[in-house]
Amino acid sequence: MTYNSIVILTGSGISAESGLKTFRDNGGLWEGHAMEDVATPEGFARDPELVHKFYNERRAQLKTVKPNAAHLALAFLEERFHGSVLLVTQNVDNLHQRAGSKNIIPMHGELKKKRHIHTSEVADCDEALDPKGLWRPHIVWFGEMPLEMSRISEALQKADLFISIGTSSTVYPAAGFVTEASHADTVELNLEPSHASIMFDRAIHGKATEIVPAFVKELLEEK
Ligand code: OAD
Repeated sequence: MTYNSIVILTGSGISAESGLKTFRDNGGLWEGHAMEDVATPEGFARDPELVHKFYNERRAQLKTVKPNAAHLALAFLEERFHGSVLLVTQNVDNLHQRAGSKNIIPMHGELKKKRHIHTSEVADCDEALDPKGLWRPHIVWFGEMPLEMSRISEALQKADLFISIGTSSTVYPAAGFVTEASHADTVELNLEPSHASIMFDRAIHGKATEIVPAFVKELLEEK
């Protein structure tokens, strides 16, 4: 089958082999912290120092990791595919961008950006943020609306292939994309069956650095 419009959703599993921890594979803790403490507006109001320290560390950690074969394969797909490729990522790391993906929506925000607490202005951020300052991490926390949802929905409506990679499919709205794209062919690429596996037309299980390049090769060879 020849496709014209691909939407790809990625989660933290695609960055695991680059050395970044996933969210739910470590006893429900994210780098040793409960999500309510570091990924909610209430947690930030309660203890801004802890939350800033946490994201400052995550931002600094990006300097120690690099894109892996799965990130690179998706950038290659976007470059070579004859139709459109939209990459929607739940990841706040910058590994897709560094791999060369251009048409990308980081729906849960970006570690390398900051948001002004009063004006909501968004700006690049390379530095550690100061808890006494007026900037917060540009991260979508639980209870907040993910970014660019209407653009994502529009693309899902038009898609003829939806691929979900390295996500447990437990966090909405991203976990619902497979249903929104049910008119399209749907494929899951994940280490193990996710919570939504049975919703997909096809599922391939294995390490992202192996199964993603192989799947991209298959797609680019289809006439
Ligand atoms: P999870 O930790 O929930 O899921 C990671 C998935 O990646 C699991 O299904 C693993 O089996 C799979 N995985 C692990 N290593 C892999 C590998 N080497 N190759 C392929 N797959 C692998 O992370 P997400 O689904 O990304 O939201 O979590 C979704 C959202 O929950 C995050 O964006 C974050 C979090 O709370 C916000 O911060 C708003």
